[in-house]
Amino acid sequence: MPVFQRNLSKSFDYLARAEELIPCQTQCLSKGPSVYVKGVYPVYLNRGKGSHVWDVDGNEYIDYIMGLGSIILGYSCSSTNRAVSQQLEKAINLSLVHPYEVELAELLCQTIPCAEMARFAKNGSDATSAAVRIARAHTRREKIAYCGYHGWQDWHIIGTERNLGVPRALKGLLFRFEYNHIETLERIFEENKGEIAAVIMEPVGVIEPKNGFLEKVKQLAHENGALFIFDEILTGFRFALGGAQEYFGVIPDLAAFGKAMANGMPISAVVGKKEFMEICEEVFFSMTFGGEILSLAAAINTIKELKRTNALAHIWHQGQRLKDGFNSLARQIGLDAEAVGYPPRFYLLFRGKDGREDVNLRGLFMQECVKRGVLLGFASVICYSHTDEDIAKTLGVWEEALRVVKKAADGGDVTPYMEGEMPREVFRRVER
Ligand SMILES: Cc1ncc(COP(=O)(O)O)c(C=O)c1O
Repeated sequence: MPVFQRNLSKSFDYLARAEELIPCQTQCLSKGPSVYVKGVYPVYLNRGKGSHVWDVDGNEYIDYIMGLGSIILGYSCSSTNRAVSQQLEKAINLSLVHPYEVELAELLCQTIPCAEMARFAKNGSDATSAAVRIARAHTRREKIAYCGYHGWQDWHIIGTERNLGVPRALKGLLFRFEYNHIETLERIFEENKGEIAAVIMEPVGVIEPKNGFLEKVKQLAHENGALFIFDEILTGFRFALGGAQEYFGVIPDLAAFGKAMANGMPISAVVGKKEFMEICEEVFFSMTFGGEILSLAAAINTIKELKRTNALAHIWHQGQRLKDGFNSLARQIGLDAEAVGYPPRFYLLFRGKDGREDVNLRGLFMQECVKRGVLLGFASVICYSHTDEDIAKTLGVWEEALRVVKKAADGGDVTPYMEGEMPREVFRRVER
């Protein structure tokens, strides 16, 4: 397969202008040039159709980033477009409530096991923050135990390395526990008896829950009078229609959904049991665009499409084929690399000679894939529009890219192979 010559000049021109005007050059750090191979990746995209995207220079890619997980049916999906454009003729945001709020709440409550009531917002961060506020209001406690990433708001970002600008006072209110290490949560409860309002966690990342971990977290939370919250922003609607809670059979008190729920339109939801959700009558959770109608229409349409079609089975099937394909290619080529995680969203892990993860090998792999028309991000995300042809082409590209990585791994240095900068992590340490 020839490595096609790509012109990226328009991308780089826009980037040069953005560097003068937009700090970070992006509104979402996970889209920014520094987390990809800067110099080789396109920076600006302007079109998507199905599972493919086009950059501003006209180059086409099979996309496995999927709008950071927000696209589940496919880009520019005709049914989403129809739902949005039909509503667009009527209104985008009105002065009083639109009936779609009721319809979407009903749909969510029929679909998600823990959902008896629902409130809507725009970003995943809005929904996780609302869940935490509800738990604090309900328990009249302030401390939170968490596991995973839950958004950009102060209550959570204080626990990350990039917490400049967040009041230090919040530090004492947040406690991180480790996935599959129940003892780390037990310690938090022991050291903060009667003070933890909620345990919030991503039900799963790429590592599967072991030894009844999710059940144990739930039990521990409840034994200590804390609410148990699932952050389903990433798992929502991709793992199962009812989220990871349905897939694992562990039902939380509250859950936050976002990303894929409207196939790219901006909407999120906090859902949960009535006895907890009702306190929203007293807490402050309100925003101008919370009931914006185009996104409500898109969400109703997306969830109905997921129910009507075999979209989720397709996503699992195609993801499994890619995972299996990657693993067998790696074995065949003699590289210590593995696709880990669940088929709808998995991670490509490369190990160095010492057996530990080598992110430089991964960076080189990403470079070699994008040059050949496959756009990879942190995790590989599958949508309903990934076709058999996409899978076949991707595996062909992966084979070529893995062979380049193998040469670099054998030589013990990726530097001679890099044509751009190594991807950087979003949460790099900020010196203060
Ligand atoms: C698990 C999880 N929770 C919360 C969020 C925050 O969502 P948003 O970026 O829409 O605010 C994200 C975003 O990546 C996420 O992955």
